Amino acid sequence: MVDHLVSIENLVQDDIDILFYRVQDIKHGLNKFKNHLHDKILANLFYEPSTRTSSSFAAAMYRLGGNVISINDVNYSSVSKGENLEDTIRTMGCYSDIIVLRSRTSGDAHIAASVSEVPIINAGDGTGEHPTQTLLDLYTIQENFGRIKDLTITFVGDIVNGRTVHSLSKVLKNCQVNYCDTYDLDKLPKSDVYYLTRVQKERGSKGSYQLTKEHVEQMPEDCIVMHPFPRNNEIPKWFDDDPRAKYFEQMKNGLYMRMAILMSYK
Ligand code: NCD
Repeated sequence: MVDHLVSIENLVQDDIDILFYRVQDIKHGLNKFKNHLHDKILANLFYEPSTRTSSSFAAAMYRLGGNVISINDVNYSSVSKGENLEDTIRTMGCYSDIIVLRSRTSGDAHIAASVSEVPIINAGDGTGEHPTQTLLDLYTIQENFGRIKDLTITFVGDIVNGRTVHSLSKVLKNCQVNYCDTYDLDKLPKSDVYYLTRVQKERGSKGSYQLTKEHVEQMPEDCIVMHPFPRNNEIPKWFDDDPRAKYFEQMKNGLYMRMAILMSYK
């Protein structure tokens, strides 16, 4: 049996608590676990572009003493010769101990897991899910509020096509969740967390939106503003210095959380 991480629903609360403890530990000493995965190889297999997810998984593996095979653009692999997902997964499973997969279609990670002899970590499957992003998002919320319950969370942006929203909203059971249409920014509900996302043009979404000084003034002083990145115009750069902007923290937590996740595969 291998433990795949295809959906955030593969994890129970105890698993998430263990990951949070590990992240704390890692943050106290990044080098403490430098030999943890010294005998392991991770395959980064990306069918869609990525900066943060692929680099943080690679960095996490190196920080744990492991090695990485990177296929960051499948156009330079046999996929460009028409190889199907199952054959590619079986192949990479011969050469690695863990496969981090980003794919184009929702459900691909399930298909990969069904044929793989090594664990599959879903790094985003089309419009489906992005469970490791959810874990780092949850950790960022926990770090800022000391809890992930009794909070009001407002999602703004591409709710239909945004996989980060799909995964995160599945685990906010004890929170009040609002979805705010980008045309309705003037009516932003009062929230603890504003989670903004990019309009996914590559998936057919249209339009754009941008936070203005007037919108920001409506937000409570003690709220936080999150974004999985990449951003387009939705959060202007002048907001980056606002203490409520937490997206760079999210990015850093991405490394720690991915180290914590990979440590499960010792
Ligand atoms: C997101 C993704 O790929 O789903 N990026 C990420 O992994 N941090 C968000 C996006 O592409 O808009």
